Amino acid sequence: MFESFFGMTATPFTRDLPPEALYQSSSTSEVLGRLVYAAQRQWFAVVTGDCGVGKSTTIRRLTATLDAGTYKILYVADSKLTPRHFYKGLLEQLGYEAKFYRGDAKRQLHREIEIIRGVHGLQPVVVVDEAHLLDREMLEEVRFLLNVRMDSQSPLGLILVGQTELWDRLSLQAYAAIRQRIDLQCKLGHLDRAQVAGYIDAHLRYAGVDHPVFADPAIDAVFHYSGGAARLINKACTHSLLYAAQNNHRIVDETIISRVIKGELA
Ligand SMILES: Nc1ncnc2c1ncn2[C@@H]1O[C@H](COP(=O)(O)OP(=O)(O)O)[C@@H](O)[C@H]1O
Ligand SMILES: [Mg+2]
Repeated sequence: MFESFFGMTATPFTRDLPPEALYQSSSTSEVLGRLVYAAQRQWFAVVTGDCGVGKSTTIRRLTATLDAGTYKILYVADSKLTPRHFYKGLLEQLGYEAKFYRGDAKRQLHREIEIIRGVHGLQPVVVVDEAHLLDREMLEEVRFLLNVRMDSQSPLGLILVGQTELWDRLSLQAYAAIRQRIDLQCKLGHLDRAQVAGYIDAHLRYAGVDHPVFADPAIDAVFHYSGGAARLINKACTHSLLYAAQNNHRIVDETIISRVIKGELA
């Protein structure tokens, strides 16, 4: 709707951005670099951050960065994950139907992981997204993956991704066995004011717009509303672009943003 009004060739502030069009800051690049290293070393890494700050997007970029001829990435994100579904999900991505019983499926997966490494010469990296939703039993099950040991090396890279409370839980005594295995912990933070401006710019460039659409005070307002969380920036920007187009404003100023935030997003 607003796209034609602003002369856009694609819709900004959506999750459709290809990896190369994503906004990069020194902090996102640092987290990405550490995850690439974790994959190379086949480490157990935990990535945490608040809701909507870009955790899943970082994994998407990681997948695009890692060479498909070297790594085999298996990704699961399922809030109702049970051990059976976990093995089934991973095996399906490898093109196999999981055996019915959990123990069988688990042995089947371990065997396939050995084949990926030994026969295909690929390094498996298992990513479990939304891991803050997993119960204790499920987290233990995920950790057991690291116990397939054929040699002194870790059998796979494992990345748990979840909201901040995942880390709080892993700090509890009950999770000491898991915590001790963690090789790397990354926290994805909120964007600061300058990064919010860069983020908005990246989305506009993806949409084919090379002139500023948001006035500086409007960016301040988006920053305050969103607290620097990408998903909320998307929301504020999309709503204000719609409002501006409907009311024939070429520039989104502070008045528009305030009106949209108070009226539609409060
Ligand atoms: N670096 C980025 N560049 C462009 N858009 C991003 C970036 N990070 C996040 N987003 C967008 O913000 C939204 C929320 O990101 P997401 O990765 O789903 O957050 P989380 O997994 O932390 O809840 C998505 O629509 C995503 O496309
Ligand atoms: Mg996510």
